[in-house]
Amino acid sequence: MTDRPKILVTQKVPDPVYPLLEAIGNVERNEEEGVIWSYDELLRRGPGHDYVFSLLTDTIDARFLETCAAATPRLKMVANMAVGYNNIDVDAATRLGVVVSNTPGVLSDTTADLAFGLLMAVARRIPEAERFLRAGKFHGWGPLLFCGADVSHATLGLIGIGRIGRLVARRAIGFEMKVLYYNVNRMSEEEEGLYHATYMPLEDLLEQSDFVSVHVPYNFLTYHLIGERELRMMKPTAFLINTARGPIVDEKALVKMLQERVIAGAGLDVYENEPAVEPELLQMENVVLLPHIASASLLTRTRMATMACDNIVAHHYGQYPPNILNPEAMK
Ligand code: GLV
Repeated sequence: MTDRPKILVTQKVPDPVYPLLEAIGNVERNEEEGVIWSYDELLRRGPGHDYVFSLLTDTIDARFLETCAAATPRLKMVANMAVGYNNIDVDAATRLGVVVSNTPGVLSDTTADLAFGLLMAVARRIPEAERFLRAGKFHGWGPLLFCGADVSHATLGLIGIGRIGRLVARRAIGFEMKVLYYNVNRMSEEEEGLYHATYMPLEDLLEQSDFVSVHVPYNFLTYHLIGERELRMMKPTAFLINTARGPIVDEKALVKMLQERVIAGAGLDVYENEPAVEPELLQMENVVLLPHIASASLLTRTRMATMACDNIVAHHYGQYPPNILNPEAMK
C-alpha cells in the first residue's frame, strides 16, 4: 500500500476543502484566519509534502521548489487557489517535475462585478459621499453635492479581453457604454460583435476612453504596462481601474499623475507591493482603494478552493489535473 500523501494548506481556506483533501491524504494546515506565513515559514514547513495548496500571497520561487523537490517525500504539485500564478516560478517547477495548477473561469463573473463596482464607485464618488454622510456633514440636498461622472454612455477601454475582460464588456453593454479593447490577439469579428467591442491600439484606447480597466495577466511583458507615458495619454476626466495585478501599473507614476490632475481618479483592488499601498493614495478622495477582494464572494472563493482540491485529487489518482499549467511536468 502506498503512503497517504502529505498535503500542506498555507492559509485558512473555505471549510469544504479539508474533507476533500483529508479523503486522500494527511493535511497540515494554517489554522489562523488572515495569517499569512512568511517566506521563511513557508520554507520551513513546505519540505516533506507531496502537495502544496497555495495562495497568491505565497512566494513559490525556485529556491522553495528546489528545497521541496529535494525532500522526502518530494513535492509533486502546487495547486494555486487563484487564476493568477505570478507568485509561482512555473519554469522552475517544470524543470523540477513539479506540476502547477490554477483556478480559471470560476471567478470571472465575480471579478468582473467588482471591476464594474469600482468603476461605478469612483465615477459617482460613492465611498467619498458615504464618508461625508457618516461624518455628519450632510445638511441637505444640494445641486452641486457630489456631482460625479456618468457611467452610462461613456467609453470604456479594456486592456485585455480574456475571460474577465469579456465579462466586463458584457456589463458595459447594459450601461450602453461604448467598449474599446486592446489585446495582443484580436478577437474574431464575430466575437467583437458579441461583446460590442472595438479593437484599438493601446495609445488610441487611452486617448479615447473615459474609463480604462486593466484585465491582462501579470508577467514580464505586462510589468508597468501603464506608466507615466500611458497615463499622460488619458483624458483629464478619465479614470483608471485595476483589478488585475498591481505591478501592471506603475503605482508611483499613478500617484504623480493623480497629484498633477493628469487623470481624474482611480479605482484599485491591487497594488504593486501588496499589502503596502503608496501612502499618498490613502489621502486622495478621488481614489477608491480595496484590499484585493475582486473574487471575494463566499460562493466563488469556495468554488476556487474546491477547484484547487480537484486538481490535487486528479493528480493523486494519476490523472491530468484539469487546470494544469505545465503539462510537461507530468511524467
Ligand atoms: C486573484 O487575484 C486571482 O488571481 O485569483
